[in-house]
Amino acid sequence: MSKSITRLFSFPMVSILTKKDASSTMLERLRLSIVKDKIEACRYAASELAALIRQKQQRNEMAVLGLATGESPVEVYRELIRLHHEDGLSFKNVITFNLDEYYPMQKNSALSYHHFMRNHLFDHIDIPEESINIPDGELPIEKVEDFCRYYEEKIDACGGLDVQLLGIGRTGHIGFNEPGSHRESVTRLVKLHPITIMDATREFLREDLVPRRAITMGIKSISKARKVFLLAWGEKKAPIVREAVEGPVSEDIPATFLQNHENVEVLADEDAASDLTRVRTPWVVSVVNWTDSLAKSAVIWLSQKLSIPILKLTEEDYRKNGLNDLLAYAGDALKLNVKIFDALQHTITGWPGGKPGTDDTDRPERASPARKRVIIFSPHPDDDVISMGGTYLKLVEQGHDVHVAYQTSGNIAVADDDVIRFVEFARDMNAVVANTSNAANEKYGEILEYSKTNKTDLMDTHLMRTAKGLIRKGEATAAARYVGTPGDHIHFLNMPFYETGMVKKGVIGDGDLDLLKNLLEMVKPHQVFAAGDLRDPHGTHKICFDAIVAALKQLKGESWIEECWLWMYRGAWHEWPLDEIEMAIPLSPSDLQKKRKAIFKHQSQKDTPLFPGNDPREFWQRTEDRNHETARMYDKLGFTEYEAMEAFVRYKF
Ligand code: F6R
Repeated sequence: MSKSITRLFSFPMVSILTKKDASSTMLERLRLSIVKDKIEACRYAASELAALIRQKQQRNEMAVLGLATGESPVEVYRELIRLHHEDGLSFKNVITFNLDEYYPMQKNSALSYHHFMRNHLFDHIDIPEESINIPDGELPIEKVEDFCRYYEEKIDACGGLDVQLLGIGRTGHIGFNEPGSHRESVTRLVKLHPITIMDATREFLREDLVPRRAITMGIKSISKARKVFLLAWGEKKAPIVREAVEGPVSEDIPATFLQNHENVEVLADEDAASDLTRVRTPWVVSVVNWTDSLAKSAVIWLSQKLSIPILKLTEEDYRKNGLNDLLAYAGDALKLNVKIFDALQHTITGWPGGKPGTDDTDRPERASPARKRVIIFSPHPDDDVISMGGTYLKLVEQGHDVHVAYQTSGNIAVADDDVIRFVEFARDMNAVVANTSNAANEKYGEILEYSKTNKTDLMDTHLMRTAKGLIRKGEATAAARYVGTPGDHIHFLNMPFYETGMVKKGVIGDGDLDLLKNLLEMVKPHQVFAAGDLRDPHGTHKICFDAIVAALKQLKGESWIEECWLWMYRGAWHEWPLDEIEMAIPLSPSDLQKKRKAIFKHQSQKDTPLFPGNDPREFWQRTEDRNHETARMYDKLGFTEYEAMEAFVRYKF
C-alpha cells in the first residue's frame, strides 16, 4: 500500500529527475528525495552509474563502484543488466568492491553475498572476474586482519570509490557498521546487532543459523567514496531514515556519519520517508497550503506538544507555535478547536458495524444494513485477535454475520518441541480411541528423530511443516470459537505464496488471488477488515494486504462490491497515527480481558515465540499497551477517558 492512499494530506514531493530541486529542509542534514516510484528511482541511480562508466570508458579509465547487497539495490542491478543487454553498456572497465560478507560464510552458499551478487548482477554482465572484489568469509580467523588491510589498500590502489551504493539497516547501519562503529573505522571484522540478525532471518529461516559476525568496509572507507547513494524503501525504514537524516551525528546511528560527506544523495520512497518532519509535521519546516486534513494534524500536534486539551487551546498557543497562518485559514482558534474536536469525536464509536436505526451522517460506519456480512482477514493465524480482538468480539456480540479468514498457515513460527507434544498426544489418543497407535507412532518416531538432528537445512520437512501448520490451525480455531464464530465461518486459506518453508516468501499468484476471490464472492461482505500493518519485519502482512486489494479490484463491477468497505487495522508492531484514525473502538477493562483470553489460545506464540521481533514484550502485552496508549492519547486531547481503544483507517480505492 502506498502511504499516499492513507495519508490525509499531501507533502512536498521532489522529482528525482531534477536533482537540483532536491530540497532539504532546515532539519534535514542529508540531501533526500522522496520518490513516488521505487523502480523509477532505481533506474535513475542506475543511469547515474551508467553515465559514469561510459564517461570513464571514453577516457580509458576504470570506474570503481562500491556495491551493496540486500533488498535495497536489487532494482538498480536489474536496470544495469537491462542497460547491458539492451543499451550495450559494457562493464569491462568496471572494478567493484562489495561492502561486506557474513563471517564465516562459504562463497558457494546460497546465503552468501558472493552468491547474491552473482545472482543479481555479475552473472548477467560482462565484468571481468578479476575486477570483482567481495570480502572473503571463508578465511581462517587469523588471516582476516591481513585480508581487511589488503582490501582497504586495494580500494585505494584502484583510485578510491567513484560511487558507493548503500542501503540502511534498521539499526542505522551502513555496510555492517552497527551502532558503536567509529567514524574512522576501516574494513574489519564486526559483530552483528540483534536487530540485524533478526532481519537476516528472512534469508536464513532460523535466527540461530545467522552468522553472528561479518567483514565490512568501515565508515571511513565508505566516506572516502566520491559520491554516495543511500537507498531506503518501505515503511519499516521510516524511523531510521528520520534519525539518519534529521538526527545529530552520532556513533549510535552510524548512517548519520554520512552527514559529514559532501556528496550524498538519499532516495527514499514515500513509506520510508513517512516519519520525516517535512512529511509528518510540514508546518514546522515550511510554509504550507492549509487544508482541513492538514489543520486537523496540526491541531492534534499542538495539543500534544503543549499537553493542553484541544478545546483549551488559545490564539496565543497557535501564534507562539508558528501556526499563525493556520489561524488565518481557519478564522479563529475557537472555531477551529471545535471543528477538529468534533471531527475526532466522530471517529469514536462502540459500534464497529454501524449503529442500527441512527442517523449515521457523522459516524464512521453506516447504520444499515443493521446486520452486516463481515470478513476479518488475518495474515497470520493470530493477527485477528491480537490486533482487533476487541472489535471482533463486538461485531459478533452485536449480531453481525462475521467470517474470519486466516490467510497463511503461519507454520514457520512453531517450535519443534510443541510439535512433539502434540504428536505424542495424537499417538496416545489414537491408541485409546482407535486401539491402534501404529501410524501415529511411526510419524512420532520420524518427528522425534528429525527434531534431534542438528538441522543445518534451511527448511523443515514437509511432515514437520504440516504438523506446525495444524497446531496453528487448532489454536486459531479455538480463539475464533471463543470469540463466538461458528465453525463454518472460520476459513483457512493457506495461501500458497507463504509456503516456501522459509522466512522469505514467494510472490502472489493467481492461486492466492483465487482463494481470496472465492471467499469474497461467497460472503459478499459489507465490511472487510485487513491488516494494513507495513512494519511487519517479514513483510507477510504487506503481501497479504496487497493481495486483498488486488482481489477486490478484480471483483470490481459485482453488485455488492460498491457497498463493501475495507477497514485496515495494524498488527503487533505499530499503531496508526492519531490524525489518520477514522474509527476508534473503545474497550472496557472486561473487553480487554476477553481479548486477552482469545490471544492466549495461541499457545505456540506465547512466552518465547520464534519470531518475537525486537520487542521483549509478548504479543498480548504489546497490543494492550498500544490500546491503552491510544485511549490515553484521546483522553489527553480532551475526550472521554476510556480503558483502551482499537483503531482503524478506511482504505480508499
Ligand atoms: C548490505 C549491507 C547492509 C544493507 C542494509 C539494508 O551489503 O551492507 O547495510 O544495505 O542492511 O538491507 P536491505 O536492503 O535488505 O533492507
